[in-house]
Amino acid sequence: MTLELVNNTIMDYFLSEPDQTMIPYWNAPNVRLYCGDAMETLEKIPDNCIDLIFADPPYNLSNGGFSVHAGKRVSVNKGKWDVSKGFDADLQFHIDWIAACKRVLKPNGSLWISGTYHSIYACGFALQKDGWHIVNDISWFKPNAAPNLSCRMFTASHETLIWARKDKKAKHTYNYSEMKDGDWSEDRLKNPNTQMRSVWAIGTPKREEKIYGKHPTQKPLDLMRRIILAASNKNDLVLDPFCGSATTGVAALQAGRKFVGIDADVEYLKTLAKPRLKDVVKTLPTPKPRKAPTKRKAAVATKRPRKTTTKQKTVIAAE
Ligand SMILES: C[S@@+](CC[C@H](N)C(=O)[O-])C[C@H]1O[C@@H](n2cnc3c(N)ncnc32)[C@H](O)[C@@H]1O
Repeated sequence: MTLELVNNTIMDYFLSEPDQTMIPYWNAPNVRLYCGDAMETLEKIPDNCIDLIFADPPYNLSNGGFSVHAGKRVSVNKGKWDVSKGFDADLQFHIDWIAACKRVLKPNGSLWISGTYHSIYACGFALQKDGWHIVNDISWFKPNAAPNLSCRMFTASHETLIWARKDKKAKHTYNYSEMKDGDWSEDRLKNPNTQMRSVWAIGTPKREEKIYGKHPTQKPLDLMRRIILAASNKNDLVLDPFCGSATTGVAALQAGRKFVGIDADVEYLKTLAKPRLKDVVKTLPTPKPRKAPTKRKAAVATKRPRKTTTKQKTVIAAE
């Protein structure tokens, strides 16, 4: 049996037997949500088992500034989780979560990181220091970005996405034809049947994507759909260590992938991620029952120590 097959079996077991490794906040066929710190939670996930990671870590831009929303002056503060702890601490945070992701990512898997200039350079530095190979950086242009209030600088209207693989020799997934020939009519920069370029014009989330409530940094489904279709295959396992409202999960399930999401804020999971995912699960065909793994594979899957943090216990109790 190849290493890949063994890892797939371990991951299937991990997904079907919640109490074997750690307690999820919520699980349903092909999807699991965990409430907790990304690093602590990633520690309990087996090595080399994730096909694709999308991470939208804190931007560290909540510094008391102002922006515009619907014609009104609004604070840029996203929440306590987004406040900078200073340059060194913020950089160390990115170094730590990126290293944790490297361990759980399959050898030929890939990692995407989204951010603004406040955070993306630190993430890029952390990736390069840790030996990752950068495949591309994508400029996500937001045609409907909010105007700049000060009129003393350009209007910030893009985010950068870094796409990286574990090392230079890794064989990452790239669905070239799907990108070239797919229907990307939402993107005014993409001409039909031409190669997908590294600048994408995609608007901020649509009204219908916000019906469950607002996450301050919710990503548009069109963006997540493109990333998932580009860099993973059907039945692959997609992980988002900072899942927020679980946009990654919605796009992953809709595209026939499996999803594991982590967020430290139970309110986001309770009011946004879980109801959004639940509604998608209802629309999917019922998966076939899984075979129990052999004793040996189960033993491998449970080798890592099981810890339940006090925070996780509290969340489960509150449910
Ligand atoms: C930029 S937002 C992600 C938004 C998400 N992409 C979406 O579409 O809704 C970052 C998320 O990371 C979570 N977070 C911050 N620090 C964390 C940590 N140490 N571990 C896990 N989650 C964390 C926040 O609660 C927030 O929901």
